[in-house]
Amino acid sequence: MSGPPSTASSPSSMDRSTAGDEVGRIYGDVGVGEFKLALTRPLERGEYLTVKDDRGKRVLCQLTQLERKSDFGAERARDAVAGLASTEVTDTLYGRAHVIGYRESGVVEVPQIPFRPASPVFTADEHLIGEVLGLHKSDKTAAYIGLLRGHSLRVELDINSLVQRHLSVLAKTGAGKSYLVGVLLEEFLRHNVTCVIVDPHGEYGSLRYRTDRTPKDPERFGVEPAAFRDKITEFSPDTTLNKEAKPLTFSLKNLDPRELLTFMGFTSVRSYVAPLKNLMELAAQANPDFSLKDLVRLAHAQSESEGNVAYEALAERLEYLDETKLLAPVGTSLHEIVVGGKMTILNLRGVAPDIQEIVVTRVLSSFFEQRKRNKIPPLFLVVEEAHNYCPQQGQAISSRILKTIASEGRKFGLGMCIVSQRPARVDKNVLSQCATQLILQVTNPLDVKAIAQSVEGLTEGMTEMIQSLPIGTCLVSGGGFHSPLFCEVRPRSTRHGGESVNVIPV
Ligand SMILES: Nc1ncnc2c1ncn2[C@@H]1O[C@H](COP(=O)(O)OP(=O)(O)O)[C@@H](O)[C@H]1O
Ligand SMILES: [Mg+2]
Repeated sequence: MSGPPSTASSPSSMDRSTAGDEVGRIYGDVGVGEFKLALTRPLERGEYLTVKDDRGKRVLCQLTQLERKSDFGAERARDAVAGLASTEVTDTLYGRAHVIGYRESGVVEVPQIPFRPASPVFTADEHLIGEVLGLHKSDKTAAYIGLLRGHSLRVELDINSLVQRHLSVLAKTGAGKSYLVGVLLEEFLRHNVTCVIVDPHGEYGSLRYRTDRTPKDPERFGVEPAAFRDKITEFSPDTTLNKEAKPLTFSLKNLDPRELLTFMGFTSVRSYVAPLKNLMELAAQANPDFSLKDLVRLAHAQSESEGNVAYEALAERLEYLDETKLLAPVGTSLHEIVVGGKMTILNLRGVAPDIQEIVVTRVLSSFFEQRKRNKIPPLFLVVEEAHNYCPQQGQAISSRILKTIASEGRKFGLGMCIVSQRPARVDKNVLSQCATQLILQVTNPLDVKAIAQSVEGLTEGMTEMIQSLPIGTCLVSGGGFHSPLFCEVRPRSTRHGGESVNVIPV
């Protein structure tokens, strides 16, 4: 449809050189952002379409709803069961499409005049899709996470914006979160991005090894097996269980009474600060390199001489802390944990939840403080099972530092990826700071609602589709793309550490 618009003219077929096949026509009342179309061949929900507007601009649209209407009514259906009616059906496909827009001078514009009824609708070609959605990134900063669903266009996230604007990976358990985070981390390893992973299940150590699976569709995805042994260091408070890890310890000497109380798991510290300070002073007088055992002994002695119940409580918690072996004469240095261009895994497998919270609090707080002073390189932090470390309801001592990093981390080059199987249970203040969301299948109604509320530009159709996504397909929202899109996650180059376990061997 070129030339000046005329209200009387009915749109004829579009010139085929500029688009894919004609798949239908617009009918009925047409809105600015949405239209109905009668389809001449079956398409899948989510497919990209194009329509020319009055100025001849090719506008990208997306099929959001589909319905097959037929002359096969309830009565005929009942008759057919009794063998009284034929099951020959005449049916027609109808759909609804959402108008995404066209790109002009780098900006996506949405036509402000509704398309004309009877306008032909075509499948969109990949050039137009890539241009309007903003799929092409600079190689230097691009993290390739997969292909646009049903196409061969690469979905790439800009690593710099991820670090500056945070990210969340949300889905029900088993939907492929850790696999996808593994894909992202492979890209970070390739680009020498400094990162630290809070890994409660010890899943990410497998990034050291090449995948032992034959990659799916190697030509389509273009993924080669790879290993990153030299770029990964693992630390754990429990090196008996996690044999590939170096010990993660904290130095007693560097802790003040308040910090030590946090390590001991006290949530309310007020009545214990003075007695513990007293114990630490007494211990230091006797031996500047005092140990936890010295403090326990002194706490028992003070409890007997002063009859103060606080000392007994302190003795008990100090003993427990000593058993965890979390404190050592010389603790792990932050400079060992954060190494420029390398990845560090904090493997917390087998560590009690309260101790995990303390470790996360302590390590993340030092990251934040040291980043403020530029003493460590800018880094990207991955927090798996984030609902445990910053819950929406209930308390976790790590909540405060996670909220601080979520709201202020970007100023200091401290980016964060929040991973959770229960989006509704993650602190809303933290989730709302994530500018990019990767969402795999979610079915729990509360989680679906939490996502619908926190993801911008999500249409009703997309919210429905999230509930039936196959494993390995994710919705990407934000990430510099003009509108949310579906992505088939690329296969891993490295081994996935979170394989589902069979109860009965097969
Ligand atoms: N993109 C994918 N391609 C192939 N298999 C996948 C993909 N994503 C997940 N899987 C498989 O699905 C299972 C669950 O994935 P996982 O990432 O561990 O789930 P989650 O972390 O969400 O609980 C794993 O066995 C994994 O191999
Ligand atoms: Mg997982």
